[in-house]
Amino acid sequence: MKVTVVGAGAVGASCAEYIAMKNFCSEVVLVDIKEGFAEGKAMDLMQTASLNGFDTKITGTTGDYSKTAGSHVAVITSGIPRKPGMTREELIGINAGIVKEVTENLVKHSPEVIIIVVSNPMDTMAYLVHKTSGLPKHKIIGMGGALDSARFKYRLAEALEAPISDVDGMVIAAHSDTGMLPLLSKATRNGVPVTEFLSEDQQKYVIEETKVGGATLTKLLGTSAWYAPGAAVSVMVQAIACDQKKMIPCSLMLEGEYGQNDICLGVPAIIGANGVEQIVNVTLTAEEQLKFSEAANAVREVNGDLKF
Ligand code: NAI
Repeated sequence: MKVTVVGAGAVGASCAEYIAMKNFCSEVVLVDIKEGFAEGKAMDLMQTASLNGFDTKITGTTGDYSKTAGSHVAVITSGIPRKPGMTREELIGINAGIVKEVTENLVKHSPEVIIIVVSNPMDTMAYLVHKTSGLPKHKIIGMGGALDSARFKYRLAEALEAPISDVDGMVIAAHSDTGMLPLLSKATRNGVPVTEFLSEDQQKYVIEETKVGGATLTKLLGTSAWYAPGAAVSVMVQAIACDQKKMIPCSLMLEGEYGQNDICLGVPAIIGANGVEQIVNVTLTAEEQLKFSEAANAVREVNGDLKF
């Protein structure tokens, strides 16, 4: 299994590191536009191989896509991250051009590739890849829900004073501060609804902190986070590489599911060797359905800024 990661910055390097450490891929190719940067990151990571006990071969290239030929999966992390106070949507001007060009290069050398889109505003970038790549829809997967659900579980465990492995929960809809929809009604602690343990104030706290999870880190770090984003991507790549048929919330092209059409939004899906094996229909409460529709409207507005 060969995986390409475009963008050898904070998130791209973290993706490559987690993928290599889990030892399920034969090769990871890092691509960056900055001269020597991907080669340097690849060499540094390879020098951890004997220390961390992995056999994955990591190489880097400055923009030579012929080195990515035959990739099964490609992850797009190239583009600018947000600075404190910025929204993800403000990145569209620069990132749309980068994502479009990168997609063309990837598909040219790996026509069968499955693309995981990470660059922000992610739901809109995933939509752009659908409109420009010519790939079938099951081969384009936006990464947002995997990360946002991990942040939701972190906040649930904190509020419940429980180990994270005891809690389960999922975030769907948009990967944005306002459009994220943590499904508190479905979250559980050892199978028991968390609403039985948490006061209304605690429930509100968990939801609000989850939604601004990325912004909180951007404020603390001065740029956006990379460990959890990289780990989230590695879980998705592993589900494909090992045909796990694992349920992961991802930003996918909807054609009638959840009442939406012609839009990429976060929904739970079974991820396996073919990419998206199936979209899972979870019954939403009336309030959740309304919030899902509002998130769709906001993403649609951002999509309107795209030029193909
Ligand atoms: P970074 O600035 O550390 O890395 C981005 C890299 O992309 C840089 O090394 C840059 O040289 C490279 N690049 C720019 N144009 C390129 C091109 N045309 N071809 C190849 N490489 C190119 O940024 P970071 O922190 O890694 O974030 C990357 C993106 O991921 C941002 O848009 C950020 O907002 C997004 N992100 C998305 C998350 C999600 O959950 N979907 C989570 C975290 C970040």
